[in-house]
Amino acid sequence: MRLTDNEIEAIAQKIVAKTPSSGRRPIVVGNWKMHKTPSEGEALVRELAALVETADCEIGVAPAYPCLGQVGRALGGSKISLCAQNAYWEKAGAFTGEVAIGMLTELGVSQVIIGHSERRQFFGETDETVNLRAKAVLEAGLVPILCVGESLQERDSGLTHAVVDRQVRGGLADLSGSQVAGMVLAYEPVWAIGTGKVATVEEAQEVHSVIRQLLAELHDAPTAGAVRIQYGGSVKPDNAAQLLAQPDIDGALVGGAALKATDFAAICMAAKAE
Ligand code: 13P
Repeated sequence: MRLTDNEIEAIAQKIVAKTPSSGRRPIVVGNWKMHKTPSEGEALVRELAALVETADCEIGVAPAYPCLGQVGRALGGSKISLCAQNAYWEKAGAFTGEVAIGMLTELGVSQVIIGHSERRQFFGETDETVNLRAKAVLEAGLVPILCVGESLQERDSGLTHAVVDRQVRGGLADLSGSQVAGMVLAYEPVWAIGTGKVATVEEAQEVHSVIRQLLAELHDAPTAGAVRIQYGGSVKPDNAAQLLAQPDIDGALVGGAALKATDFAAICMAAKAE
């Protein structure tokens, strides 16, 4: 019996899509961006920790650098992990304004967001520098959360898949399958960030599935099946459950709604391990 290309594609999709045995625990991370002072951040996580005690997913918060110490101490004993919004790839040196990963680990950081579209758009981040950061974060034993996503113009030009393909290939260049398997990817369409415009669940699922197929092509199906892919862009309590129920959406990277404990907690409660 010969299978058609479409049938082969459908089988491949099933192999790498989330299944009850996929073992992909959902991960919801709040990216606070340039909001919250250290004391405001501490108050936020104290309220949040009580609200998410029974959540069935991994949860992280990513405050700005100056808040990491105080927020990290406030998180002690809770199930919420501490994430950084960026990190530099050199271990130390004359790099004014940059922050080394060793400085972050000492504060208890376990995950680092890299390649966020705001870094790419406003601070000259490229696929090459994102890749250098990914390698350094992995080398330090931390988990990179690699963000990818197309702009509105790219989307309107039909370039979504091409852009995401380039960013994933570039960001993951030279990494081994086992390194990639431990990473988190975040698909954040730039036009959906902070705009209230959320990708439809079908649109988001389609791009997530394309990313997972690409991971299978770059490595293999088990690697692709292990990587958690978050969706980000105007995730709110009222759309989270639908997004998180998609087979290839394994969590959320939340901006605005992460600044309010009750909203962020509601999103965390919508993420359920299978
Ligand atoms: P919003 O949730 O505010 O759209 O931000 C998404 C984001 O950029 C998270 O990294």
